[in-house]
Amino acid sequence: MIDTPPAVELHVHVEGTLEPELITELAARNGIALPYRDIEDLRARYAFHDLADFLALYYANMAVLRTADDFAAMTRAYLRRAAAGGVRHVELFVDPQAHLVRGVPLAAVVDGVAGALADDAPGLGITTGLIACFLRDRPPAEAVDVLRALLAADAPLLGIGLDSAEVGHPPGGFAEVFALAAEAGLHRVAHAGEEGPAAYVTEALDVLGVERIDHGIRSLDDPELVDRLVRDAVPLTVCPLSNVRLRCTPDLRDHPLATMLHRGLRVSVHSDDPAYFGGYVDDNHRAVAAALGLTRDDQARLAHHAVDAAFVSAERAAELH
Ligand code: HPA
Ligand code: ZN
Repeated sequence: MIDTPPAVELHVHVEGTLEPELITELAARNGIALPYRDIEDLRARYAFHDLADFLALYYANMAVLRTADDFAAMTRAYLRRAAAGGVRHVELFVDPQAHLVRGVPLAAVVDGVAGALADDAPGLGITTGLIACFLRDRPPAEAVDVLRALLAADAPLLGIGLDSAEVGHPPGGFAEVFALAAEAGLHRVAHAGEEGPAAYVTEALDVLGVERIDHGIRSLDDPELVDRLVRDAVPLTVCPLSNVRLRCTPDLRDHPLATMLHRGLRVSVHSDDPAYFGGYVDDNHRAVAAALGLTRDDQARLAHHAVDAAFVSAERAAELH
């Protein structure tokens, strides 16, 4: 059992919270024929070889999201599950480009997700922020256009991020959109060192100026980078069940989280795409604590790191600690 509840979720993609039951419900509502016989058949496809294999299904299942109401239903369902798992603050990723390329208007995405956060989170005792991620396997100029559109629409953003297929798409190409975000006063994070090399972590820090690294498990390959991350107290949002399901690490018992923690890195535990990877943030905490034999002190430090890494006021941080 864990003693410290997982109060802060900093690495969760809202589209990755779309559970099979809601996929079938939204498909029926929108008259969309799914290429699966039933929920069992869909679930049977949740055995992934790697990140690309997962992303193909993750993007395909987004076909059921058409209207602001659909995005709101997904977000509301996530908030309810998060609250039940003890979450009190969430910084939620959304992938606007994944919907724009399907012809879904930006307003449907933003109004649906941000509207549900504003309407439902306070009653659940959860504070929230929305982080728009850009897809690194699409052109950097498109990311700039989408951020300009988000800013023009006054989208209530906490920050921006960078996700999707990592290998072969180094962060440096996205310098312009990250500079624009900094000018606009937005926080900046990026996925790096999940499947890609430690050099992408260095590049995300040096070129994009990110304040947090999402995943970052490959940082351990570069001792100088590790020294820097420790010295500068750079937060790393680690997602253990995701790493196992995407075969970034062979088994939870081999997960580098404990090594990273004991090396002095500011790691915290999160869920990534909980509907696909077998668990929400509380499940990740329980699973990793058991598999790695984490002590109470280890678990308390992980929880503290998450609060320290959150983009919240000092007052809210004090409440969450
Ligand atoms: N990695 C990169 N991009 C993503 C992921 C992930 O695990 N989930 C959703 N987009
Ligand atoms: Zn992620």
